[in-house]
Amino acid sequence: MPIISPSLLASDFANLQSEVEMINNSNADWFHVDVMDGSFVPNISFGLPSVKAVSKHAKKPLDVHLMIVNPDQYIQAFADAGAEYLTVHYEACNHLHRTIQAIKDAGMKAGVALNPHTPVSALSEIISELDLVLIMSVNPGFGGQTFIKAAIEKVAALKKLITEKGASTLIEVDGGVNTQTGAQLIAAGADALVAGSFVFKSDNPKSTIDDLKAL
Ligand code: DX5
Ligand code: ZN
Repeated sequence: MPIISPSLLASDFANLQSEVEMINNSNADWFHVDVMDGSFVPNISFGLPSVKAVSKHAKKPLDVHLMIVNPDQYIQAFADAGAEYLTVHYEACNHLHRTIQAIKDAGMKAGVALNPHTPVSALSEIISELDLVLIMSVNPGFGGQTFIKAAIEKVAALKKLITEKGASTLIEVDGGVNTQTGAQLIAAGADALVAGSFVFKSDNPKSTIDDLKAL
């Protein structure tokens, strides 16, 4: 069964507590929280106070996806805000190894996200250090975009790399995930699926989560 991490970006921000309770009472595994800075990506979303507010009510791990430049300066702050997984972008880190170490030193699990143009091979020297790799199947910044099919091959390549290196890294995919694309991603080796619009814009988000969980 895949890990399902609904993306709160597509939730109703004016009713965030009830959205969090819905996830608490569903079969979802994590909360995916998208942090954007208007610089690394052309959009702004949650900040630290919102992550803290979600964390207060969330009964499942917070899977925080940082789409920000200079993530190093906020690592401790996100640990304090309640993040369990902290994922930084490969493209935003000059010294990725140091960043990963700092995330772990702060007591969190460390993830690296890859933009659609970044090859999986970029992680070959660091994969054993990573708890999670997030394959972006859209260009980060917005919900509701069209799934980029090349992500499926990237998942397969990443699975191969993880196996070759004897690593235990989880493979997560984010962007345009629904039951159709999700099934292909699972077949290619994905462990965790992020879904925003597909869950929150559906008539019955809890049963949509069940549909993803059943893949
Ligand atoms: C996009 C975010 C995603 C977003 C996915 O930059 O990282 O987590 O919420 O949205 P959907 O599932 O609608 O593509
Ligand atoms: Zn995300």
